[in-house]
Amino acid sequence: MTETTRASWGSKIGVMLAAAGSAVGLGNLWRFPFCTAQNGGGTFLLIYLICSFTIGLALVFAEAALGMKTKSDPTGAFGWISPRLKFIGGLCVFTSAIILPYYSVVGGWILAYIVKVFSLSSIVNFETAFSDFSSSPVQPLIFFYIYLLGSAAVVYFGIQNGIEKFSKIMMPMLFILLLILMGRVLMLDKAWEGIKFFFAPDFSKLTGETLMNAMGQVFFSISVGMGIYITYGSYVKENTVTVSQLMWPVIFLDVLISLLAGLTVFPAVFSFNVPINAGPALIFITLPQIFASIPFGQFFGLIFFIILLGAAATSSISLLEVVVTCLCDQIKMTRQKAVICFTSVCLIIGTLVSLSFGRLSGFKIGGKILFDQFDFLASNVLLPLGGFLTCVAIGWILGPEKLVVFQNRALQKSFEFCIKWLAPASILLILFKSINLI
Ligand code: TRP
Repeated sequence: MTETTRASWGSKIGVMLAAAGSAVGLGNLWRFPFCTAQNGGGTFLLIYLICSFTIGLALVFAEAALGMKTKSDPTGAFGWISPRLKFIGGLCVFTSAIILPYYSVVGGWILAYIVKVFSLSSIVNFETAFSDFSSSPVQPLIFFYIYLLGSAAVVYFGIQNGIEKFSKIMMPMLFILLLILMGRVLMLDKAWEGIKFFFAPDFSKLTGETLMNAMGQVFFSISVGMGIYITYGSYVKENTVTVSQLMWPVIFLDVLISLLAGLTVFPAVFSFNVPINAGPALIFITLPQIFASIPFGQFFGLIFFIILLGAAATSSISLLEVVVTCLCDQIKMTRQKAVICFTSVCLIIGTLVSLSFGRLSGFKIGGKILFDQFDFLASNVLLPLGGFLTCVAIGWILGPEKLVVFQNRALQKSFEFCIKWLAPASILLILFKSINLI
C-alpha cells in the first residue's frame, strides 16, 4: 500500500467535512432542481427523501464502516471480503471515468459564468445566451480544461490538508449564501407557486421512471455506490470515532442543501417564467436572471458561482481520489502518474461530452446526447449497480453483523435488515420497473 493510504485525517471534523464536501456538490445545487422539475416536483421529492434515509443511509454507513475496518481502497476492501469481489474496484474506476468528465464540463460552465458575471445585465434572453455558450465549439472546452486540470492539481499534490481546510471555509459560506439567496427569492411575487410545485405530491406522475430517477439522484447526491466512503473511511484513525457519529451529519447536510436549493430555484423559475423543463441548463438560466435583476446582483452572483465552484471542486476531487488511490494500491503506480493517466482519459472523454451540446449534438445513443447518456448511465445504472453489489458483498457474503455501525441494538438490527433485504430488493425492483420488466 502507498503512503497515502496510511495517512489519516487531522480531526473528526476534518473527515466529516471532507465527506460532506464530496456529497454536497453539483448534485444538490444543479442536478437536484432540474431532476425534480423533470419528474413532477413533490412526488419526486417524497421518493427522494424516503430513498435517502433508507437505502442511501444504509449504504453510506456500510461503505464507511468497511473502509474504517479494512483501511484499504475499494478493490482491497472488497477483496478482503472475498478475492472474487475485487472486480468491484474496477467498477468504481469505470464509474468515476464516466462521472468526472461530464461533471467537469458543468464545472467549466460555472467557471465561465464567474468570468462573465459582470456582463449579465447586457443579456436579453438568458436561455439563448446559455445555449449559444454551451453549444459553441471552443469556449466551454477551454473552461472545462481549466476546471479539470485545477482539480487534478489538488489531487496531484495531495489533498489532506488542502481539502480539510478548503471544506471548513467553503461549507459554512455556501450555507449562509444559500440562505440569503433563498430569503430574497422567497420574496418574489410568484414564489408560492414554486413552493407548491416543489412540495405538493401528485401521484399521477408516479412512474417507474420517476422511481428510478429519484433513486439515481440519491446515489449521485450522497456520493454512494463507487467507494468514496470506503476510501475516505480508510483514512480514519482506529477507534477515534464511530461510523454513525461521522456519517449522520453528512447525510443530513446533503439533504438539507438539496432542500434549500429547491426552495431557491423553484420560486425563481415560477417568478421569471423560465421553462421548467430546461434540464441541465436550468440553474444556468434562472439564477443569472435573478442576479441581473436584483440590487448588487452581479456581486452576489459572483460569490454564488465561486461557492458553487468550491462545492463542485471538493466533489470532483473525491471522484479523482478514489481512482488514484485504487491505481496506487492495486497497480502500484505513483500518485503523480495515476493522476496524469486518469486525467488524460477524462480530458478526452470530456471533450466529446462537451461537444455533444454543439458539434456532436446529432450523435445520439438511445435518443440521448452523450452528456445526458453519461448522466443516465452513471446515476441510474452504474451507481445503483455499485450499491447493489455492495449490499450483496456485505449483506450476504460478509454478513452485516460483522460491521457494527450503531451501539443501539435496535438501530443496528434495522441497519442489517436494510443492507441485507430492503436496499438490494428496492434497487432491483426499481431497476426492473424502469425497464418495464415488472
Ligand atoms: N455527490 C456529488 C454531488 O452531489 C457528486 C459526487 C462526488 C459523486 N463523488 C461522487 C457521485 C461519487 C457519485 C459517486 O455533486
